[in-house]
Amino acid sequence: MNPIKVGLIGFGRMGGFYLEEMQKSGKWDVAYICDVSAESRELARKLSPKSKIISNEQEIFDDPEVQVVGLFALADSRLEQIRKAIESGKHIIAEKPIADSVENEWQAVSLAEDSNLLSTVNLYLRNAWYHQTIKDFISQGEIGELAIIRVCHLTPGLAPGEGHEFEGPSFHDCGMHYVDIARWYAGSEFKTWNAQAVRMWNYKDPWWLQAHGTFENGVVFDITQGHVYGQLAEKQTHNSYIDIIGTKGIARMTHDFKTAIVELHGVSQTHRIVQPYGGKNIDTLCKLFAQSLETGKRSEALPEFRDAAIASDYAWRFLQDSLQHDLPAIGELETLEQIQERRRTMKNGYGLIRRHS
Ligand SMILES: NC(=O)c1ccc[n+]([C@@H]2O[C@H](COP(=O)([O-])OP(=O)(O)OC[C@H]3O[C@@H](n4cnc5c(N)ncnc54)[C@H](O)[C@@H]3O)[C@@H](O)[C@H]2O)c1
Repeated sequence: MNPIKVGLIGFGRMGGFYLEEMQKSGKWDVAYICDVSAESRELARKLSPKSKIISNEQEIFDDPEVQVVGLFALADSRLEQIRKAIESGKHIIAEKPIADSVENEWQAVSLAEDSNLLSTVNLYLRNAWYHQTIKDFISQGEIGELAIIRVCHLTPGLAPGEGHEFEGPSFHDCGMHYVDIARWYAGSEFKTWNAQAVRMWNYKDPWWLQAHGTFENGVVFDITQGHVYGQLAEKQTHNSYIDIIGTKGIARMTHDFKTAIVELHGVSQTHRIVQPYGGKNIDTLCKLFAQSLETGKRSEALPEFRDAAIASDYAWRFLQDSLQHDLPAIGELETLEQIQERRRTMKNGYGLIRRHS
């Protein structure tokens, strides 16, 4: 099959990852790269000299040869781009969240589900080898009945005011991935929840949140997420794990963003698996998407817009719930300014986004 003609919209940190993977795979012809920032366009020209580099996305939608659009700008422009893509008959790979409000996300779901075009969204944890290994272990009955899902993701990552304002506070922007993966493991819908948060550095929104509750099938969960983990530490570190407890055994994972370690303690099998972390698994997402287009059959592993809308919706509900309880403010805005300043000049930090002058 000929390479798939694709137009990328939004060439920041994520757009760059997609270009790299698409170039590596040989299955894609990146015909266009669109960005509103001149700096991003300049970089795109350098990294992809054969692509047409543009500032007006309409050119992509108007080109009948473009089969797929990649929507990697920010959440505020996504719904409109999804609408244009569907109107012009283009398949869609979108970043999360699929729009900038719950209402707009459900509109995007309706548009996609009412069309016969292929669409997916980068809920990248679903494509991670470590989660698939653990899910497979659970389905073999090794841990007995799934009972408790514990997820934790604490990093010195994106601080308030650095960008991604349309993506919401940390627990929505990043936390929706963990909301999604808990639901993916449970195979059920959220039933009850309680959330506690803190307004770190006296910022207006919580930047750390812990939610716990139940799913319809009785499985219980706790999710702890925050980009509050020592941004000013001399040597930064993070703490990221999943801990799955069944009636008979357990399965867990931790990673250092380079290597992931899965430990499986089942009734008849015990394993410790150490493998490369795998990053955002964009290679897998693009491969599954290309295969689905080639075969005309949607891969079941491709996350649906509906999954992203549900994860986003519940991340907002947990944030909303935290506002109903005591919500302390700890620290000062001056510390946040120091953090922003440090991250501005960092070359190699957690989740640094591209700066535009
Ligand atoms: N799936 C994941 O794990 C994951 C991780 C990080 C970010 N994201 C999502 O990816 C998206 C992009 O994030 P990022 O970190 O790359 O941000 P970024 O700020 O690095 O890049 C965004 C780019 O989009 C451009 N842009 C903004 N509006 C545009 C428009 N209307 N048309 C064309 N270009 C436009 C900006 O100029 C910028 O170059 C966000 O929505 C974010 O939530 C997802």
